[in-house]
Amino acid sequence: MPPEIVLQTQRLSKRFKQRWAVRDLNLEILQGDVFGFLGPNGAGKSTTIRMLLSLIRPTSGDIRLFDEPLTMSQHRALRRVGGIVEKPDFYLYLSAVRNLEIVGALYGGVDRRRMMEVLELVGLKDRAFDRVKTYSHGMKQRLGIAQALLSDPELVILDEPTSGLDPQGMKEVRDLIIHLARDQRKTIFLSSHLLSEIELVANRMAIINRGELVVQGEVSRLLEEGEQYVMIRAEPLRKARAILRRLTRFVHSMSEAGESLKVVMSFDDIPAVNRSLVRSGVAVHAIVPRRSLEDYFLALTEQSLSDGPNARVSGKTQRQ
Ligand SMILES: Nc1ncnc2c1ncn2[C@@H]1O[C@H](COP(=O)(O)OP(=O)(O)O)[C@@H](O)[C@H]1O
Ligand SMILES: [Mg+2]
Repeated sequence: MPPEIVLQTQRLSKRFKQRWAVRDLNLEILQGDVFGFLGPNGAGKSTTIRMLLSLIRPTSGDIRLFDEPLTMSQHRALRRVGGIVEKPDFYLYLSAVRNLEIVGALYGGVDRRRMMEVLELVGLKDRAFDRVKTYSHGMKQRLGIAQALLSDPELVILDEPTSGLDPQGMKEVRDLIIHLARDQRKTIFLSSHLLSEIELVANRMAIINRGELVVQGEVSRLLEEGEQYVMIRAEPLRKARAILRRLTRFVHSMSEAGESLKVVMSFDDIPAVNRSLVRSGVAVHAIVPRRSLEDYFLALTEQSLSDGPNARVSGKTQRQ
């Protein structure tokens, strides 16, 4: 049996005045997915998530949740969804439990036991009765996830849950997401502006840029599809090049890129290539694995920075 489609958008679009923040977006999230929604700042991630959670109305297009159309009047399916949009807000002078009680009252039927359950799930049980004011940024982020989990949703939608966290905080949130997917059998949709973050947790992903879908598919496939290459910085460079040229078993092609050599080869062969260079007396400063998806996304990010966050929507970068 093919996996159930949990969430599907068809030509989903949102226009603010003259500007399309999201345009003709087709997404498909399958049951059990950790689905990464990747895009540079201003790409339209939060706008999409707001539409998915029915916080704003699409200008056009459709959303299907659990095989039911999601309209403003039809909110039944939303009971099976939990989410946070951008930074979750809390009453800082109240405890985590008190904050959850307030949100729980909105849902109805959330008891103290469930609150302690979700706090335990996100690793905040010991701090449940401390004021949120005393929490680190990472703890607040995890409390946001706890809030999204209160109603025990099947689909959890998280908007940049690791944004602004230090590496340790990022890892904690990542581990939590993996735990939710693997052990709690949740389907997770999370956005990020970092490919490295998506890569570590997601099995499927979509890249969005200027409101439009660029590519969608399995993470491993998308990463493999592009060629693998390494950047080698070594001294003397000329000697390194001569040696690499002889390593035809490993090196598929080579070109010069500034002070480095761009070498198309499998990452599996890095140790062997490194050994050959070192044995021949070349000083190897760095061998950096790169993939074209990474370059591609980096280029998107730089482009959107130079355009500014309010660049007009255009479809020029479509790569489907
Ligand atoms: N309420 C709004 N009114 C007008 N423009 C908006 C509004 N919300 C978002 N935008 C614009 O829509 C685009 C996408 O924003 P957003 O969805 O927040 O991107 P992301 O979450 O990917 O950083 C941006 O150009 C942003 O300025
Ligand atoms: Mg956003």
